[in-house]
Amino acid sequence: MAGKAFTPRVFSGIKPSGGLTLGNYLGAIRRWVDMQGQGLETIYCVVDLHAITVWQDPAELRAGTREVMAGLIASGIDPERSVLFNQSRVSAHAELAWIFNCVARVGWMNRMTQFKDKAGRNAENASLGLYAYPALMAADILLYHATHVPVGEDQKQHVELTRDIAQKFNHDYGADFFPLPEPVIEGPATRVMNLRDGSRKMSKSGESDMERINMLDDADTIAKKFRKARTDPEPLPDTVEALEGRPEAKNLVAIYAGLADVTPEAVIAEFAGAGWGRFKPALAELAVERLSPISTEMKRLMADPAELDRLMARGAERAEAIARPILAQTCEIVGLLR
Ligand code: TYM
Repeated sequence: MAGKAFTPRVFSGIKPSGGLTLGNYLGAIRRWVDMQGQGLETIYCVVDLHAITVWQDPAELRAGTREVMAGLIASGIDPERSVLFNQSRVSAHAELAWIFNCVARVGWMNRMTQFKDKAGRNAENASLGLYAYPALMAADILLYHATHVPVGEDQKQHVELTRDIAQKFNHDYGADFFPLPEPVIEGPATRVMNLRDGSRKMSKSGESDMERINMLDDADTIAKKFRKARTDPEPLPDTVEALEGRPEAKNLVAIYAGLADVTPEAVIAEFAGAGWGRFKPALAELAVERLSPISTEMKRLMADPAELDRLMARGAERAEAIARPILAQTCEIVGLLR
């Protein structure tokens, strides 16, 4: 279908389960902040409905939602310049997700690698929500007619599925209604790996806290985690290409580049030939320099939950104003009398 031109609009989301990691920060939040300055409309969402696809303690979910909200603001998301809210406050997400459950095909869902990873061998016992999760994610994005979705590498397949859902909807209903959004996967650290195993992603849910840097870690903890990070015995090479086959070394260079906002080439130019005894303390120092002002501000914001709730409610009102007419038009196209 000849695509009509959609006004560029950015949407992205983050789950409020288990706190924020350096992976979230470098892979997503940093980019979200950058995109605010590019004259685009930016919409960022704490996706609490996604979190409950795996059981959450209700009190921890409330606390986690506020913590992520605080983390986004402390990292530089401006609740005035961006629309910033939590997903469950805008019920149109769940409503559009149902319609997309009826558009997406079971065969497509079966190919989602993240479901396979998360459900593991016990897939029969996973929630139906965990399986349907990518259709809700498509609804998050398309409810705003978003065209650009800044995410880490691990979300690429879900954004591609969103395009498939948009395309099938447009085709099945003969309406050029939803845009086909682009994943925006940029920067030197689009896939931050686990500090103890360079073949696995850094995630909130990994079993050992030593494998990830949390946004609220203090300076000593950050230094200890980098000191104990797994590496190989070789010093840093003098080209980026020579990092291939050295996943742990490559990961630490990418993290340094992400934190310093430079390319991996620039990091290698500075540290070629350096041993870990030099590089790791430099990396820890840089991480503390970047993260400690953010964690200090996060804690300040978290001390006033009522203000965070007020900001989320205000953001949700603004989100609702964009979402409602799009949901109403979708229902109209589908033939639902309202
Ligand atoms: P979530 O909450 O797992 O992660 C939020 C964002 O952080 C990125 N990220 C990483 N990037 C690099 N390295 C890592 N180790 C790393 N870990 C996490 C993720 O790629 C993501 O961009 N399904 C999504 C949330 C979501 C969403 C959406 C995203 C729901 N609806 C609509 C975009 C648009 C998720 O679980 O992200």
